[in-house]
Amino acid sequence: MNEQQNGVTYDPFQAPAPINSSKINSDHLNNLVAQLKDNQNELELQSRERQKAENALILSEERFRHVFEYASMGIGLTSLVGTIIDVNSAFSDFIGYSKKQLIGMNVMDITHPDDRDLTRQRVDNIRKGSPFLRKVEKRYIHKNGSILWAVARISVVCDAQGNSLFAFGMLQDITEKKRLAAELIEVKEQVEIQERKRLASTIHDGVIQNLNAVLLSMKKKSEYIKNSRPSDSIMLEEANQDISKIIKQLRDISMDLHPDFLDRMELHEAISWQCNKLMQQSGIEIETTIGKRARKLPDIVKRNSFLLMQEVVTNAIKHAGCKKIDVLLEKRKNNILLLQISDNGKGYNHKKVQKLAQNGIGLSIIEDRVKRVNGTCHVDSEIGKGTNVTFRIPCHD
Ligand SMILES: Nc1ncnc2c1ncn2[C@@H]1O[C@H](COP(=O)(O)OP(=O)(O)O)[C@@H](O)[C@H]1O
Ligand SMILES: [Mg+2]
Repeated sequence: MNEQQNGVTYDPFQAPAPINSSKINSDHLNNLVAQLKDNQNELELQSRERQKAENALILSEERFRHVFEYASMGIGLTSLVGTIIDVNSAFSDFIGYSKKQLIGMNVMDITHPDDRDLTRQRVDNIRKGSPFLRKVEKRYIHKNGSILWAVARISVVCDAQGNSLFAFGMLQDITEKKRLAAELIEVKEQVEIQERKRLASTIHDGVIQNLNAVLLSMKKKSEYIKNSRPSDSIMLEEANQDISKIIKQLRDISMDLHPDFLDRMELHEAISWQCNKLMQQSGIEIETTIGKRARKLPDIVKRNSFLLMQEVVTNAIKHAGCKKIDVLLEKRKNNILLLQISDNGKGYNHKKVQKLAQNGIGLSIIEDRVKRVNGTCHVDSEIGKGTNVTFRIPCHD
């Protein structure tokens, strides 16, 4: 605080000027004493204020520490390159490593291998100075090797000058939610399979058998009246042919409803078998390439991949006007099943067709199936240049 004294700027914190004993008088002394008192008061005031601020800081740090430590969400502090600096108890409970073990590890060490690219991108964004990152669902690996799911929210803590200091991450454990969702999908899938099986066997063992019996008796009648009423016999014969066609159509429907060979075959065998059949029916060359690792797949992956392949190959046969279709099935090292169907036909505008709901339900069924298996579908099609449909389906052993 500056005070104006005798036209001179006076600083109370400056040491008083040296005293010249010859000039000492009582007024001067009183002045000096008053200045010293002011100095002392000011210092005491400042000290009290500083103490208050320090107490407030300690309290807010304690509060933060308390929230950090006892929050039900997992919280972690990392450096800008992902090295773990501190974690709370919820975080170490979630991941199975103790706080001591976690400090010094990198986020990548506890991230699921399939989510490391995503995490790397986020760490890069933090380094480039993006202060808040969108929340994402990502997988972690527990100390015991099991897969964990969490919603991760990350923000970057900066100093007063705006320089990034460290990243602050909060995790909400959604492992159980994910497990239940997967179980629900599995149950739905099983219900659908059972219903399809029931319908398929009603058609196969009921309707088709009855039609076969009618066919047999009509054949006998036609044979019986062949000589006495030849024109009626010919009519019966024509009706027989129609019934045979209906039986064949019903067999196909029953097979579509429940391709029972999938229970007996590996996916690659079923795909090769079906492509061969479709090739003979359509006269279009279909070449299948099967990677060695695409075996012993989970039932849900097997069934949906087969039906996806069938829909896309049938689309190529029906709509593309192509000469050749290539089907590739391969299990990649990162546990992704790659299913790719390409045709050299006329191509189409996929985005436009997708918007026109009246254009057939095939594409929406594809979308639905891809969701069921947590997969992705990428359609690359250009007018005049053919169509390439790529599915990526996660399939852990
Ligand atoms: N491989 C393809 N080549 C050309 N057009 C295609 C191809 N696949 C799909 N389409 C177009 O997309 C439309 C929608 O397909 P989809 O939903 O399966 O219905 P549907 O097969 O019953 O017509 C088709 O009618 C066709 O115009
Ligand atoms: Mg279709």
